[in-house]
Amino acid sequence: MSLLELTDVTRSVVLPDERVLEILRGITLTVDAGEHVSIVGRSGTGKSTLLNILGLLDSPTSGEYLLEGVSVARLSQRKRAWRRGEDFGFVFQQFNLMPGRTALENVAAPLMYARGRQFWKRRTLAAEMLDRVGLGDRLEDMPEKLSGGEQQRVAIARALVRGPRVILADEPTGALDVDTGGEVMALLDEIAAQTGAALIAITHDLAVAARAQRHYRLAGGVLVPIVLNAPGRVTEWVGDVPTDVPADLPADSPATVDEHGAVTA
Ligand SMILES: Nc1ncnc2c1ncn2[C@@H]1O[C@H](COP(=O)(O)OP(=O)(O)OP(=O)(O)O)[C@@H](O)[C@H]1O
Ligand SMILES: [Mg+2]
Repeated sequence: MSLLELTDVTRSVVLPDERVLEILRGITLTVDAGEHVSIVGRSGTGKSTLLNILGLLDSPTSGEYLLEGVSVARLSQRKRAWRRGEDFGFVFQQFNLMPGRTALENVAAPLMYARGRQFWKRRTLAAEMLDRVGLGDRLEDMPEKLSGGEQQRVAIARALVRGPRVILADEPTGALDVDTGGEVMALLDEIAAQTGAALIAITHDLAVAARAQRHYRLAGGVLVPIVLNAPGRVTEWVGDVPTDVPADLPADSPATVDEHGAVTA
């Protein structure tokens, strides 16, 4: 059984003028435990909408979402909220840390909703997690005193402190310079791998996307598999989206990618 399984998931919203905006038109995606998946796509193509559905923050308009074989649509509000806290860790572009609270308090916050040992040992667990992201000596610092990269490392520690099965990252390096972004992503990959968590990362950054094992492009409301950095291929930008083309294609040929990831000129 897969960890996550989306079948033909759509998401539409009714606009104030009563027009219907079809954001997602039929998403089919399977993610197994420990897999790293990347999704690229232009602004406004529905990447955050998809991530919110995956993380139980939003619901599909139609289609099916199975979480460990259980239909999410059948969960009560309470059960949904509980599974969200238990199973998912979120990392956002704008770190979303609580100002005026120390790094330790920020990382311990999700454990306020945990039970048993996780609740009682929350400060110790938070300190351990901060140590793992290299901030063991910054426990009492406020976020506003930390650099962007350090703040994102605190956010990663917060996302991982409950041992989620799935890490959902929405443009995790979007607010960082290239080098810092690369370091933060390497750290996220490494900790996800150590804990066996699946990682689904949305990004505009090709280097970030390439770190995953499977790559998709979200366009026209559907996911298209793409190949990044395969031998014998060069990566090109089609529109604003990085896409691979065979190395023997002329550089200026208009390449397209079909639903199987094959590139034709
Ligand atoms: N609740 C809503 N009501 C109306 N429109 C919405 C709603 N949610 C999303 N949209 C629209 O749906 C589209 C997809 O939004 P979404 O935030 O998922 O895009 P995105 O791919 O994450 O974009 P970006 O790369 O800029 O973050 C956008 O045009 C957005 O304005
Ligand atoms: Mg977005």
